[in-house]
Amino acid sequence: MLLTSSWIIDFVIIIATISFIAYKYATRKFDYWRKRNVYHLKPIPFIGNFKDVGLFKITIGEWLKKLYDSTDEPYFGIFVYDEPHLVIKDPKLVKQILVKDANYFMDRTNAAPEHNQIIANMMFFQKSPKWKAYRTKVSPAFTSGKLKLMFHSINEISKDLNRYLGKNLGDLEMKEVCAKFSTDAIARCAFGLNSHCFEDENSAFRKCGRRIFDFNWRNGIIQTAYFFRPHWVTWLRLDFFEREVSDYLVDAFSSVMTHREKTNIKGNDFLDLLIDLKKNQDFREKFAFETTEATAQAFQFFVAGFETTSSTISYTLYELCKRPKYQNTLREEIKAAMAKDGDITYENLMGMKYLDMCVQAYNTESKSGSTFRDANAMRGGRHPEIQQRMIFCVEKGSFST
Ligand code: HEM
Repeated sequence: MLLTSSWIIDFVIIIATISFIAYKYATRKFDYWRKRNVYHLKPIPFIGNFKDVGLFKITIGEWLKKLYDSTDEPYFGIFVYDEPHLVIKDPKLVKQILVKDANYFMDRTNAAPEHNQIIANMMFFQKSPKWKAYRTKVSPAFTSGKLKLMFHSINEISKDLNRYLGKNLGDLEMKEVCAKFSTDAIARCAFGLNSHCFEDENSAFRKCGRRIFDFNWRNGIIQTAYFFRPHWVTWLRLDFFEREVSDYLVDAFSSVMTHREKTNIKGNDFLDLLIDLKKNQDFREKFAFETTEATAQAFQFFVAGFETTSSTISYTLYELCKRPKYQNTLREEIKAAMAKDGDITYENLMGMKYLDMCVQAYNTESKSGSTFRDANAMRGGRHPEIQQRMIFCVEKGSFST
C-alpha cells in the first residue's frame, strides 16, 4: 500500500523515517555526560569520538594520547560509538581506582565469549570470580626466583640474536628481529620449546604471531569488537584468533604438556606450574581445570608476552637511534658490566639503572600504557562515585604488567 500517490515520495518518506529512527537511537546516550556535569568531547552521531580508530587511521594508544593531551581536566567523558566512557587522567585517581579500590574494578571491558573454550579460559578475557582465582594461582610464575631461573634461557637466545645480527649486517627491520627474539624467548621460558625463529624465516610460531598481530581487516574489525563492541562478539560468535592459528598453537602446547606429564620431566617453567594446577584437586573441582583450560593459559602467555615485549624493545631501540648521546651512555653501562663479569648476568642486568630508565622513559612515549575497566561490573557493591564504563589513561607506563 502506498502512503502517497507517488512511489518516489513514499520512498523518500521511508528512508527519512528510518534515518531519523537510526539517528535518534545512535545519539540516545549523548547527553549522558552533560546531565552529570562532566566535561566531555563533542560526539559525532553513530561513531562518537571513535572516528579515527573506527576507520583504522590511528591506533587506540595514539587516539587516547590525543584525547589525553586535549584537556587539563582530571577526567573527562568520551563516546565510543554510542557508549559513554570515562577517561581518567589524574594519576592519583588512577592509583586510587587500580590499587586502593581494585576490588571494585576487577573486570576489563573486553568481551568474555563462552562459545570458544580457549578464549573463554584466557585470564585476559575472564571476569571475576574466575579471573581472581586464576590470577592468584598463576602469579607465582613471576616471582623473582622464577624469573632468575629463566635468565639462562633468555641469555642463550640473545646469543642466537647476536649471531643473526652478525650474519645480516646492513639495514634490518628491527621490529621483526625483536619479534623473533621475544617469540623464541617466551616459547623457551614458558614451555621449553624451541621456535627456531632466527634459523627459519618461516618458523611456524613466528608465522602464527604475525597472523595474530599484523594488521588486516579481519583482525582490525574483530579485535576492535572484542574491546569496544563485546555484545557483537557473543551474538556473532567471533573468534579473536584465526582458527588455523589457534588450532596450531593449541596442538603445540597440549602435546608438549602431555609429553611432560607422561615422562614426569620438569622444565622449571610456566608449564610446570600449569601441570601442578591440573593436579590440584581443589582448584580442579572448583574451576574444572583440565587440559583445555591449562592450554588456554599457555596460549595466552605466548600471545600476551611476545608482542608486548618486542614492541617495548623495538620502541626503545628506535628512540635510542634518534639520540646517539644516550645510546653511547647506555653502551658504556653495558660494556662496563661485561668487562667486570665477562658476560651479562642476572645480577648485573638488574643493576643496569640507565637501561631501566631508557626502557621506562621511551615507553612512556610509546602511547601503549592504557588499561580498561568495566565499572558496570563492579564486584562487592557499586563504587560510590564512579558508575560508568571507564578507560584509564595510565601515565608513565606505571601500570603495565
Ligand atoms: C613490556 C612487556 C609487556 C607489556 C607492556 C604488557 C602490558 C600489559 C597490559 C597493559 C595488560 C593489561 C593490564 C590491565 O588491564 O590491568 C597486560 C595483561 C597481561 N599480561 Fe602483559 N605486558 C607485557 C609483557 C607480558 C609478558 C612477558 C607476559 C607473559 C609471559 C604477559 C602476560 C600478561 C597476562 C597473562 C595478562 C593478563 C593479566 C590479568 O588478567 O591479570 N605480559 N599486559
